[in-house]
Amino acid sequence: MKRVPKRTSVDMSIELAKLRLESPVLTASGCAAAGKELDQFIDISTIGAVVTKSVMLEPRSGRATPRMAETPSGMLNGIGLQGPGIDDFIEKDLAWLNQKGAKTIVSIAGNNVEEFGKVADKLRDIPGVIGIEVNISCPNVENRGQVFACDPYAAADVINNVRRNVSASMPLFAKLSPDVTDITEIAKSVVKAGADGLSVINTLLGMVIDTDTLLPRLSGKTGGLSGPAIRPVAVRCVYQIRKALPNIPIIGMGGIRSGRDAVEFFAAGANAVSVGTTVFNDPEACVRVHDEVAQILQDKGLRSLAEIINAAHEELI
Ligand SMILES: Cc1cc2nc3c(=O)[nH]c(=O)nc-3n(C[C@H](O)[C@H](O)[C@H](O)COP(=O)(O)O)c2cc1C
Repeated sequence: MKRVPKRTSVDMSIELAKLRLESPVLTASGCAAAGKELDQFIDISTIGAVVTKSVMLEPRSGRATPRMAETPSGMLNGIGLQGPGIDDFIEKDLAWLNQKGAKTIVSIAGNNVEEFGKVADKLRDIPGVIGIEVNISCPNVENRGQVFACDPYAAADVINNVRRNVSASMPLFAKLSPDVTDITEIAKSVVKAGADGLSVINTLLGMVIDTDTLLPRLSGKTGGLSGPAIRPVAVRCVYQIRKALPNIPIIGMGGIRSGRDAVEFFAAGANAVSVGTTVFNDPEACVRVHDEVAQILQDKGLRSLAEIINAAHEELI
């Protein structure tokens, strides 16, 4: 039996940009591919949405191994955006997701501003795509590999171009990097450029050195740190963005392992959450976290999730 959320008297539905979702718990990009591996454990049509692995214009084989390393309370990955390319992805993965009745948010990436626009354009009128998450945490090959998400102008250029290549009604989420001095500056810039919502946060740049060889563990030397180790950073980022932009829809993520962890994000200002690294050792995690949040709300005598969103901001409630 595939796991589905338990019936509850608590209203767990959410409004997210132009979307209404029955569950506030989504997968995190890159941690559940295109949902197939999860399908044997959970009914993927019952989670908030499947956020797919970032897809680029052309197929990519990613970095050489090793691409993963364990870290205290987390992991470091340097996969290098391996993927089939957008045409193959639409033909196989999106068709499968649609047939399963999944609500899909497609994560896209690009090597330059134009490429992001071309990938987005391919997604016009594809059934089952309810939103696009723009992964701007990748290097701009036209500007010395500077990560788009670390520069408010480059980040805005990407979002602007994607916006021009999708219908006005398509919800666009810009996924932000925590590796900046002031994340609210980037947030404001991408919202001004046309993002309807923000996904917060991508991994933190890290490194693990093998103390026997004295060399970096990952072939790419550095990688993205994820898992519970980054949760306080992620909660802080969501909180700061909510304070700066009181009405912007936020998908919060970073080290969510339990309903209690998700509640931290909702109180900080997230309208939805994505569950990433945890899914590798608990493929039922998205449904489990949904059930645990519902139970926490019920124990508090609350009727809806909406009652705790922004609760940590005394000035907003
Ligand atoms: C193995 C792995 C692959 C990832 N791939 C992507 C990706 O393709 N696109 C993206 O935007 N984020 C990617 N991420 C980042 C996650 O979506 C998420 O933002 C981050 O891991 C924090 O959440 P977590 O601690 O729950 O994993 C990846 C993370 C991991 C661990």
